[in-house]
Amino acid sequence: MENTITTNQPTTTADADFLPLMGTDYVEFYVGNAKQSAHFYKTAFGFQSLAYAGPETGLMDRVSYVIRQNKLTFVLTTALRADQEIAQHVSKHGDGVKVLALMVENATDAWQQTTKRGGKSYLEPKRLTDENGEVVMSGIHTYGETIHLFIERKNYKGIFMPGFRKIESVYNPASTGLLYVDHCVGNVGWNQMNLWVKFYEKVMGFKNILSFDDSDISTEYSALMSKVMSNGNGFVKFPINEPAEGKKKSQVEEYLDFYNGEGVQHVAIATADIVATVTDLKSRGVEFLKIPSSYYDDVLDRVGKIDEDLAPLSDLGILIDKDEEGYLLQIFSKPLQDRPTLFFEIIQRKGAKSFGKGNFKALFEALEREQDARGNL
Ligand code: FE2
Repeated sequence: MENTITTNQPTTTADADFLPLMGTDYVEFYVGNAKQSAHFYKTAFGFQSLAYAGPETGLMDRVSYVIRQNKLTFVLTTALRADQEIAQHVSKHGDGVKVLALMVENATDAWQQTTKRGGKSYLEPKRLTDENGEVVMSGIHTYGETIHLFIERKNYKGIFMPGFRKIESVYNPASTGLLYVDHCVGNVGWNQMNLWVKFYEKVMGFKNILSFDDSDISTEYSALMSKVMSNGNGFVKFPINEPAEGKKKSQVEEYLDFYNGEGVQHVAIATADIVATVTDLKSRGVEFLKIPSSYYDDVLDRVGKIDEDLAPLSDLGILIDKDEEGYLLQIFSKPLQDRPTLFFEIIQRKGAKSFGKGNFKALFEALEREQDARGNL
């Protein structure tokens, strides 16, 4: 089934890119209790407090905590009132990703380019100012109730953006070596994958760089299909999954069931030393999917020589895969909240630009064991 992969690397010609993106600006989560979530992500993952907005800064219906580690910025937002959109979002979906914010040179142009191609506006270009300058933001809807915001901050010198004030925390856990967002994966409903592939192509100028069908990604019980969308310079990658028919309920169906619709399945975060990062995360209580030790019996026959010793990878349950350009090391956390919805991937790329297709079977069998334990298989 090797030939079911299609490779079509994005072009870097600037003239073709009507939506130049400089990367992920931040990921915003709507959560039930932002104060406690911020503490969890600081403690477990090694983030530092950066900024805060709430009643003390004039925001009467919500609070947001901004935490940061290297180039990774999370915003954790909670409603203060029951009859409020954020409260309804959390009631329906549980804790989850609301906003994938993208860094742009010109947020007004980003909004015009995407909405004229059929993107549904979420936020018309809005100028926020304070004594540190201005941020311009705009936004469009994507799958489910998820939003892409375009953030223009070239004329801003403040800590995060107008409306936020700096947090001086006495609690500053050390970094775990998490660097930046590598990719963010969306789960969409039955027969919706190609619709969203077209959305990213037409509205945002992305290209489909890899495709996996159910013959690549199936176990005895369940299946899914996936297409990886990338922007022109490859800084922003959004794989899109949809369920496929299998003997039992697939992991994507379980997600759609508990999230009450489409949404972000996982955020993949880069590290330069996955053994050190995962050792640290585990010591802080982060739980990962367990891979049977038999996976390591023949993994080097499949991927060839690697720089790392196999023993620590096997002890930690880190998976290995390769493509034409190199290899990658990856591991997947258990869900980060009580609903079996959002999880994180930790990834170290050693040349490989792919997403771990060779690990899908071992990974999905591990996921199914978890699903079975929840009674959802
Ligand atoms: Fe991934």
